[in-house]
Amino acid sequence: MSQAGRTELRSRNWFANADRPDMTAVYLERFMNYGLTPEELRSGRPIIGIAQTGSDLTPCNRVHIELARRIRDGIRDAGGIPMEFPVHPIFENCRRPTAALDRNLAYLGLVEILHGYPLDAVVLTTGCDKTTPSGIMAAATVDIPTIVLSGGPMLDGHFEGERVGSGAVIWKSRKRLAAGEIDEEEFLQAAVASATSVGHCNTMGTASTMNAVAEALGLSLPGCAAIPAAYRERGQYAYATGRRIVEMALEDLRPSRILVREAFLDAIAVTAAIGGSTNAQPHITAMARHAGVEITTEDWREAGYPLPLLVNMQPAGTHLGEGFHRAGGVPAVMSELLKAGKLHGDRLTVTGKRVAANLEGREASDRDVIRPFDQPLMENAGLLPLSGNLFDFAVMKVSVISPQFRERYLIRPGHENCWEGRAIVFDGGDDYHHRINDPELNIDEDCILVMRGAGPIGWPGSAEVVNMQPPDALLRRGINSLPTIGDGRQSGTSDSPSIVHCSPESAAGGGLSWLRTGDVIRIDLNAARCDALVSVEEIARRKAEAPPAIPVSRTPWEELYRANVGPLETGGCLEMATKYRGLSRELPRH
Ligand code: FES
Ligand code: MG
Repeated sequence: MSQAGRTELRSRNWFANADRPDMTAVYLERFMNYGLTPEELRSGRPIIGIAQTGSDLTPCNRVHIELARRIRDGIRDAGGIPMEFPVHPIFENCRRPTAALDRNLAYLGLVEILHGYPLDAVVLTTGCDKTTPSGIMAAATVDIPTIVLSGGPMLDGHFEGERVGSGAVIWKSRKRLAAGEIDEEEFLQAAVASATSVGHCNTMGTASTMNAVAEALGLSLPGCAAIPAAYRERGQYAYATGRRIVEMALEDLRPSRILVREAFLDAIAVTAAIGGSTNAQPHITAMARHAGVEITTEDWREAGYPLPLLVNMQPAGTHLGEGFHRAGGVPAVMSELLKAGKLHGDRLTVTGKRVAANLEGREASDRDVIRPFDQPLMENAGLLPLSGNLFDFAVMKVSVISPQFRERYLIRPGHENCWEGRAIVFDGGDDYHHRINDPELNIDEDCILVMRGAGPIGWPGSAEVVNMQPPDALLRRGINSLPTIGDGRQSGTSDSPSIVHCSPESAAGGGLSWLRTGDVIRIDLNAARCDALVSVEEIARRKAEAPPAIPVSRTPWEELYRANVGPLETGGCLEMATKYRGLSRELPRH
């Protein structure tokens, strides 16, 4: 790659700054202690960061510890100098009170690293849910050449003759445990069977969704997202990614040229077609905001909701990650969307080529896994934004609403997307667990379960607790799901018919704060409305009363986070952070 005509690499300002030769020695000397030479660092070769998200605390991304060797090989072979550094761990399943707290913390940390160190470009290693958006948010803020290498899903799981996928098997087995169909040991066996190898969740949960989104945005090499972590192509893509980022550094190909509005609209479309996680909504919105692009409710309604479900993968379908990869992965899905005129084919990507050029010849090879656009698994399958007197904004993943569920909740013949139910209100996860089986609540199939105090401020962090399962007595009668509503989130691996991300949240004075157990809620998906049938006067009276209590902050970060976080509607961003953009255009002071 010719270096002619490019702007000077920012690392030169540290290691070859004619104005401050006195500082050069300070910057250089400690890198010598593991064998780098002053000649290398002063050679004018790009210094490429490898943002390492894998660790024992983030097992979903642990494969990156191995893959980093191949990234380094690629960087070296292309003439760059790799520098690997750790990113704050984010492990979805284990981090209390919720991993969502750490998306913005990892973001902040990465912004400081990318801004404050002599890096010319970065490889973001991604996998577990929030490791992808946090990295991309930081890359957008700093705007240095960036490429995403996903770690890939685990191999498919099998148990008792069935494919068992991450998360999905837990939700299903929990219900069977509560209904007395299996014991605790069988529950554990089924869960373990879904975790087959290195890699992230093998369902179309939040991890697979967000890595597909990264690729759809144009930040990964085409085909990267779906390759299972244990496949040989992973190492090969790691090498190619390392090579390509060196070229990108020399071409000065920055996120600001890739993360344009059309890229985010296409990410919304791809989320619909793959049956992606509801978590894509705050994450896509947050990445867009940090890139200076506003994504609105209308964008979800127009670019996402009307699109069909094309990918037959759990929880909306039956296959898992290996099947998706073999069928063609994200490029095959994007090909379908492009042919149908639902994608912007002329925007730039990390390959240096346009989307349409990247997708040439990338047709699906297995139509049971990736359907043609005109023969989808479901029409109108994108995330549906809703509003009403309980919230200004919420979303529902309609691709997981079963026909049986729709039928059960008809309130009038011919209105198959409209239902009413009696609200059962819970204040946080503990309250739900203590009371869900309380006979006095008299929960039947006409109830709607409501979770409040689970939003960014209330929890804090916004927890995946809205996909509540019905009481054991209903499960034993075969009622496997009730409608749920909440200001928190739901797991991306869940097939619950949940209305999530209610904004403003209860802790910020949103409508859920005045809702009472026993109120009737009407959900009308045709009108995209959700309202409590409570009079304006009664609402005003209740609003004058004290709001539901929320737990106090237990750590300094929780307090900082609560003071600065915005609603899930606008991405759950640290609001003060969104004004910082293009940091790499000015160098930090000595
Ligand atoms: Fe980490 Fe699902 S828990 S990817
Ligand atoms: Mg999750």
